[in-house]
Amino acid sequence: MAVNGRTPLIAGNWKMNLDHLQAVAFVQKLHWALKDAKHEDDSVEVAVFPPFTDLRTVQTLIDADKIPFAFGAQDLSTHDSGAYTGEISGAFLSKLQCGYVIIGHSERRQYHHETDEVVAAKVQAALRHGLVPVICVGETLEQREESGPTAVSVAQLEVALEGVPASADIVVAYEPVWAIGTGQVASPEQAQEVCAALRAVLADKLDADAAARTRILYGGSVKSSNVASFMREPDVDGALVGGASLVVDEFAAIIRYQKHVGV
Ligand code: 13P
Repeated sequence: MAVNGRTPLIAGNWKMNLDHLQAVAFVQKLHWALKDAKHEDDSVEVAVFPPFTDLRTVQTLIDADKIPFAFGAQDLSTHDSGAYTGEISGAFLSKLQCGYVIIGHSERRQYHHETDEVVAAKVQAALRHGLVPVICVGETLEQREESGPTAVSVAQLEVALEGVPASADIVVAYEPVWAIGTGQVASPEQAQEVCAALRAVLADKLDADAAARTRILYGGSVKSSNVASFMREPDVDGALVGGASLVVDEFAAIIRYQKHVGV
């Protein structure tokens, strides 16, 4: 448990990697790696975000072996059912016992032209079905140069939270686009500056209790060698990890970040 009362969340966004057979091997190996190291299950929450086609398998494995990982999907439809070929309803995800769903990842904004309004509709869809939305925000390098470090993320979060109940359970992920998959990681101070601004949005839009318990993650080239420096920042409550979440030993080392530098 962190000093501020928020349990750190280390989340692995697999993106379009690992099929359902590879997912079984990965989740088992990660579980063993953490068990061997006597990972304290309640000190850090671990979540994995596999592709849709893996979710049933991952859910069955986690359930059968009592593996203490949360899991979720990488996207969902704004609609609940109907003639929307290729879409996945939040109702289906919640039946699969997904706890979370990533919404508004910059790759969806970029490659699938998801606007802030679509992101807001997806947040509503997630909440309708009892899923905790992991709302991703972040600026491109161009936007950072034009409007400063916080403006884009703050504006994206404000729209995403429109109409959200004040007591809602959500997670926010700050992922500067220029740091995703590039190895060009933000500094802990840069991450803190934006996360503090996002915290202020939460205080404005949510009730005091919900704002205080909402976790804000940093994402973008997180590795075992830099995760602890982010986790030391007061407004960073976890990490959303891409590439490094696909390597068992590396992801396990990220989850055990307290070990590295005694945070
Ligand atoms: P990388 O960790 O590969 O930079 O990806 C971050 C990310 O997009 C997580 O959602």
